[in-house]
Amino acid sequence: MTEWIWFNGEILPFSQARIGVEDRGFQFADGVYEVVRLYDGRPFTLFEHLERLARSAAAIEIPMPLATDALAIEIGRLIDKSAVRDGMVYLQLTRGCSPRNHVIPDQPRPTLLFYVRPLPPVPAPGTGAGAKLMAVADERWKRCRIKSIALLPNVLAKSQAVARGFDEAIFIDEGIVTECSASNFFAVIGGSLITHPVGPKVLPGVTRAVLLECAAALGIGVEERPITESEARGAAELFITSTTREISWVSHWNEQSAGQGRCGPITLALHRALQERIREETMAAGAPVMAKSA
Ligand code: PDD
Repeated sequence: MTEWIWFNGEILPFSQARIGVEDRGFQFADGVYEVVRLYDGRPFTLFEHLERLARSAAAIEIPMPLATDALAIEIGRLIDKSAVRDGMVYLQLTRGCSPRNHVIPDQPRPTLLFYVRPLPPVPAPGTGAGAKLMAVADERWKRCRIKSIALLPNVLAKSQAVARGFDEAIFIDEGIVTECSASNFFAVIGGSLITHPVGPKVLPGVTRAVLLECAAALGIGVEERPITESEARGAAELFITSTTREISWVSHWNEQSAGQGRCGPITLALHRALQERIREETMAAGAPVMAKSA
């Protein structure tokens, strides 16, 4: 089965796409990206992801080659051509090719590409093993609000965690829990949901934002504030969120068990509410590719 890629305006067989040696994404990690989840061939929160891509691109002054609406239409075309129904769309935008020089070229010709990959279904809320987190020092830059392709600290942290039998690395910045290598972090303390504010050290996760809306709708109190490692370790429930995992309850923090050793009631209620949102947005008859209009 041919795998397709949308590459600078053309849909090609994946194997035919070629990136220049002097693409600044390759040489300087000069680019940004997005991951959008597909449910039965429909993207979830596509508008929010494309808005974040535009914000990330603006933050590093890469011109967006296409407006959000036009990009959504192109993504829809690629999904229709692809055989993948449940998976993800990976999008990457770099500053493109120019002779190697740290200084940003005056007239960049950005590289924009996206392709679709299958993903296994997420376990039903409350089922599945909990995630085991390994704490690591947060050595990332201070512009984590940007969804940059410069992911080496995340790659090293997660790889170390996985090599030691954990599922995710949780970043600790001077005693404060920020987020994980590829997910946002939440604790339930005294019945309220606590999560670090987005900004220099935390990506504005799309799943995180939907979850906060779900919490409000369920009448669950939310505090966006820094949380210390010891506070997090004593929390009643811990969970992590991302586009690809939705919500995973946390069973371990380093070698110690966390929460109550099972998916807690607030985590469960929030995951059910998130899945309801996913169903509403992606499974409604004739649902548009992009739910909100720009
Ligand atoms: N990662 N924080 C970081 C550092 C992330 O890389 C991600 C997502 C998140 C969660 O964001 P969202 O809910 O918008 O997916 C938080 C993606 C899935 C990845 O890199 O594959």
